[in-house]
Amino acid sequence: MNDAIQKHLDYKKYVVDSKLRYFKPHASKIEKTFAEEISSSLIGNSKFITPKFFYDKKGSDLFEKICTLSEYYPTRTEIDILKNLSIELSSYLDETFRLVELGSGASVKTRLILDIFTSLQDTTEYFPIDISEILTESSEQLLKDYDGLHITGIIDTYEGGLEFLKNYDDKKNLIIFLGSSFGNFSPNAGREFLKKINSTMKSGDLFLIGLDLIKDKQILESAYNDSLGVTAQFNLNVLSRINDELDADFNLDNFLHYSIYNKEDQRIEMYLKSLVRQSIIISKSNLLLNLEKNELIHTEYSHKYSLDQIRELLKSVGFKINHVWIDDKKYFSLTLVSKI
Ligand code: AVJ
Repeated sequence: MNDAIQKHLDYKKYVVDSKLRYFKPHASKIEKTFAEEISSSLIGNSKFITPKFFYDKKGSDLFEKICTLSEYYPTRTEIDILKNLSIELSSYLDETFRLVELGSGASVKTRLILDIFTSLQDTTEYFPIDISEILTESSEQLLKDYDGLHITGIIDTYEGGLEFLKNYDDKKNLIIFLGSSFGNFSPNAGREFLKKINSTMKSGDLFLIGLDLIKDKQILESAYNDSLGVTAQFNLNVLSRINDELDADFNLDNFLHYSIYNKEDQRIEMYLKSLVRQSIIISKSNLLLNLEKNELIHTEYSHKYSLDQIRELLKSVGFKINHVWIDDKKYFSLTLVSKI
């Protein structure tokens, strides 16, 4: 049996109806549990909680709210750019492309790209890749709103989903990775991730990536420390989640949301600061966490790039740059690349 067929046997196919199906790995691969990850990341001197844990139901709702804040420019700026690129992006596409999204879009942004696809094609295939159960509700809404749409969700990590897609068929893919989600990666991990994307692409496939640009420190810092305190709630919510899911006793009043722009490393750094010396029990992680007064728990990096760095980075991992779109203020970028 060839590799491609073997690989698809690792997934179970669920057919909801003629326009909606999804693939899910049989046994969840040997991944560390939430309890294990928290236990190893909160032990030792530099404590951290990985940002993927922000997104429980409450955290996802808070993030949606962040996206509407006046200080948080990335979402509305990326949407503006997307609204203006349809003619130019269309010129790279035809009826043979499918849309693949890293992350799954209930969002306006996915719809703006689907508008372009459905204006070029009678039937459009959309493959969202996401670890959380792919949003039956929002998929159903998309199917109601777009006539010729067919959705195939891949419920897996981005790497797993990309691997699944490799050799899936001969159809060309436009892979999109929006919102500057890439900014969470450290430079090395980011480069590896781009190489992974490149290695799973066929010649003729396209990749569109949204990246946040370097700008004034004040603008950056207010985007991550908004006046309504929504980002603070978002950051602190990860502690509530640990309380709920891992049987812990964090008192949120003993922590402060703290974020700064590190100019040298070109990134927003987010932390939870312990306001007192305290001990926290995290039962399911078998951990007694001791924190000093003012000790920081790191929760997120959000990297910012210059246009030159974006070109260099993408070229260095084997991409050819087709087009770069930015807004008038030069706040945000969308870059379309293909395999050399
Ligand atoms: C989802 C990673 C793109 O870095 O701007 C927003 C997350 N954190 N406010 C970002 C976030 C705090 C966001 N990304």
